[in-house]
Amino acid sequence: MKKPILVVTSRFIKPVEARIEDEYEVRRKTDGTLSTHELLAASEGANAILITPFDRLDADFFRQISPSVKVISTYSVGIDHIDMHAAAEREIAIGYTPAEVTDATADIAMLLLLGASRRAFEAQELVRSGEWTIPSAGALLGWQITGKILGILGMGRIGQAVAKRARGFGMKIHYSDPHQIPEEFAGDAVFHADPLELLKVSQFLTLHAPETPATHHFLNGKTIPVLPQGAIVVNASRGGLIKDDDLIEALKVGRLAAAGLDVYEGEPKLNPGYIGLKNTFLLPHIGSATIESRTNMGMVALDNINAVLNGRSAPSLAEV
Ligand code: DGY
Repeated sequence: MKKPILVVTSRFIKPVEARIEDEYEVRRKTDGTLSTHELLAASEGANAILITPFDRLDADFFRQISPSVKVISTYSVGIDHIDMHAAAEREIAIGYTPAEVTDATADIAMLLLLGASRRAFEAQELVRSGEWTIPSAGALLGWQITGKILGILGMGRIGQAVAKRARGFGMKIHYSDPHQIPEEFAGDAVFHADPLELLKVSQFLTLHAPETPATHHFLNGKTIPVLPQGAIVVNASRGGLIKDDDLIEALKVGRLAAAGLDVYEGEPKLNPGYIGLKNTFLLPHIGSATIESRTNMGMVALDNINAVLNGRSAPSLAEV
């Protein structure tokens, strides 16, 4: 039987690659990523496309996409890189992987929180540079998280998983979300309908909201001063939630104590202002980068494609 044609924009973990090769006639570049132009050309006559958050599919892309393409599956929970309205107009189903990234990303948020609050970058530098001598009691003092308030913006799956972990560290949880979540999921977390009220109490703030027009540059020169003096900010969601120049300035002048970031606006490029700051703990978007998470993400991304192409109900299709 003829296999469906799948355009693939990246390289995936081995078991996912094995399934791709087994189940599809694959179109891909042997090295490097596909430009939009190359992706459109490769999609002519194809049935499906498997993408990552680094492929930006805008309205113009959907105007030009081949009518043969019935489903596009992204290997991510985030769908901010896809113009969902334009996809709906072309009746192209969009698959994503909302449940598969939760634990790995929540772990990274905790790593960022601890890395920023315990000055892990400076500590690593001291050891690796060979400049570590007799420790002084006042060196590299950080900020303890026990008993402090952690504000969570976006109390979806990942926000809830972070809350669970942070409670284990003795933190008190506050959150803001468009909707108050049921007590069975929120536990003792305090809800703030207004995100600014959340900022007022957040000694530590972690961002887990999707990037939308409403959350774009949520943290900026006007909202940062609402945070308590010396607050610590963590972002493992999308870089676009932060206005970089404003965060950098607040970190420079000590209005904020530190920041832990895994995501950046315009990544993989990032605002160079972050690099020179010692009070930043920076990671290269590795939220979902565990063997388990990346395997499950790939499998679900392929399940979504199979289901749509075979007229079955898919495990996770994103809605407009
Ligand atoms: C996601 O799934 O959206 C994460 O950011 C990993 O790419």
